[in-house]
Amino acid sequence: MKLVKLLANLGYGSRKDVAWMFREGRVTDADGEVLYADDKVEHARIRLDGEPLDPPTGLVLMLHKPLGVTCSRKDPGRVVYDLLPSRYRMREPALSTVGRLDRDTSGLLLLTDDGALLHRIISPRAEVAKVYEATLADDLRGDEAALFASGTLLLESETTPLAPATLDVLGPRHARLTLHEGRYHQVRRMFAATGNRVETLQRVAIGALALDALAPGEWRALEADDVARIFAGAR
Ligand code: URA
Repeated sequence: MKLVKLLANLGYGSRKDVAWMFREGRVTDADGEVLYADDKVEHARIRLDGEPLDPPTGLVLMLHKPLGVTCSRKDPGRVVYDLLPSRYRMREPALSTVGRLDRDTSGLLLLTDDGALLHRIISPRAEVAKVYEATLADDLRGDEAALFASGTLLLESETTPLAPATLDVLGPRHARLTLHEGRYHQVRRMFAATGNRVETLQRVAIGALALDALAPGEWRALEADDVARIFAGAR
């Protein structure tokens, strides 16, 4: 791909903006040789103002989504894209969230520009585990684990029962729930079906990829072994 298109696709500016960067000699190779718009050079060797470029297409990010931000692109309030460098919104192919977390849910959110990978992660057939920790308004009754594991729980206004899910009790009002599907407000609706209410909800892992030490609002690009961890134990 010609460099002018590559930089524009990475969101550094319109083709016109990027063409100016070349005219100004701001794009060089790793040895400081000025590069031209029509050149084709290995991504890792390109520098803009002396800095390496953002990662190429095939990018996967993990973000600790804080409370109060939405996964939508258009929401008038704070959105997850506000937590990333502004040019990441302009990338082509676009960076999409892998599923969504509610505004009032925090925790591990993946973003990628790789459509096939996105579908592999969210497809119920792949059975990638999504692990949540919830605090509840009322004490657990004691029968929730059996109900969630049964594969028969039907949420209000749905016609297909939920796939079996695993509940680990962490305290009287504190539980870890592992799901292999992602229906609308699923965790909140599951506990609502038991007469309880979720007070706080955090996604702590996807597959064997854990939220780790990322503070709310922090993010990092995933390496191939991180991506492999998403599918550890999946089909
Ligand atoms: N379940 C929910 O209820 N909310 C989320 O954000 C994710 C899963």
